[in-house]
Amino acid sequence: MTPAREAALAELQARLPPGRVLAGDAEALEPWGRDESELGSFPPEVVVKVESEAEIQAVFEVATRHRVPVVPVGARSGKSGGSLAIQGGIALSTERLNRILEINPEDLVARVEPGVILATFQAEVEKHGLFYPPDPNSLELCTLGGNVAENAGGPRALKYGVTREYVLGLRAVLPTGEVIRTGHRSIKGVAGYDLTALLVGSEGTLAVVTEIMVKLLPRPRHVATALVAFADVGAAARAVSRVLAQGVIPRCLELMDDVSLAAIARTSPGRFPTGAGALLLVETDGNDEEQVFAEIVRVADLVAADARGEVLVAQGEAQRREIWEVRRYLSVNLKAIHPMKLSEDIAVPRSKIPEMVARAKAIGLSVGLEVATYGHAGDGNLHCNVMYDRVEERPRVDEAVAAILRAAIELGGTITGEHGVGLAKRDFLELEQGREAVALQRRLKAVFDPLGLLNPGKIFPPA
Ligand code: LAC
Ligand code: ZN
Repeated sequence: MTPAREAALAELQARLPPGRVLAGDAEALEPWGRDESELGSFPPEVVVKVESEAEIQAVFEVATRHRVPVVPVGARSGKSGGSLAIQGGIALSTERLNRILEINPEDLVARVEPGVILATFQAEVEKHGLFYPPDPNSLELCTLGGNVAENAGGPRALKYGVTREYVLGLRAVLPTGEVIRTGHRSIKGVAGYDLTALLVGSEGTLAVVTEIMVKLLPRPRHVATALVAFADVGAAARAVSRVLAQGVIPRCLELMDDVSLAAIARTSPGRFPTGAGALLLVETDGNDEEQVFAEIVRVADLVAADARGEVLVAQGEAQRREIWEVRRYLSVNLKAIHPMKLSEDIAVPRSKIPEMVARAKAIGLSVGLEVATYGHAGDGNLHCNVMYDRVEERPRVDEAVAAILRAAIELGGTITGEHGVGLAKRDFLELEQGREAVALQRRLKAVFDPLGLLNPGKIFPPA
């Protein structure tokens, strides 16, 4: 540690209660340097577990005086390296800010602190007959603060949209120490610039969020879930386009290709139909049971021309859960076939889904690596996982990833549909958005964080 950082640490230890500042123990700090991005280990020098806005202000005050970077950290389940302390410094953990402050059925609004685990929150909301749709597959681990930072999506985004569509307002501490309130408790509200929308998805680079006010929906009473098999991924992708072109919006339309299914066969034997080259997981929901079922039958009819074999409709809640469990752990279970991977989350316009799927496969072939494609095909958000066995293969992996990102941009899409730019994709942001738009975003960042101390090196490549 530099003398300035030693001094900052001593001040933090003096200002926060014992046990809430972790430093000096490399082994204890190491896990704080990792997330789910597979980008390696970048541990902070200090972890501070804050319990109030005043403590966050104290951290910023000390960090500013000694010019130490501050990296906000939630559950470390992020996929783009957003919480990695690439310049060391202070990891500011919000795990102790974990209270559900309010669930209000009359206003259809809830207020939470950023450290609340998403699944815990959803379970509480559902006890009131209400519904909070965003559902990243890490929901058992991830926090609402992390969801806000990354503007998290998930399978249900197809029908219900992503986190930003549910956040009505925020409280946040700026690196300058100012505390701001954004947004409104009403559904409508257009006063001033939309700072709420700016902070959602800002990847912990503009402010530390301390309170999140979200909109809730009435909980749909019925859900139907089905699995449809296809001979190959191209046929499944065409089926997705056919369903959407007919104006049917299921709540989920998830694709799994042959490589994904091979991993599932190994890690969850007997759970899914075997012998298929691709599967679609379809889900419809609503309040009228017959209508929900009729809609899934309609989807089944629409995909019949491309499908192979019977449509498997889940019989009851237990079977639904079983299907989703397999899907949720797919990102982790892919490692059953190759121990290492880089996972992308490009999104393309719906009409381009079949072409993007084909291009990802071809790119894998061209560099001699297997690419597993799965994901939220209904909204064009595909997880292309470039898989490998040895670190020496990494340059070819990077080459394939770059080609996949470029293909997504060429098809009118984006380099990230839900995981964020973070460290993983910062070199490609300009390619997607152009020099001027990126320069403007850098200037915005400097307005919030004049000294560039908050989560440096994320979203934008070093100047
Ligand atoms: C998923 C994560 C990786 O959809 O976004 O599984
Ligand atoms: Zn996903």
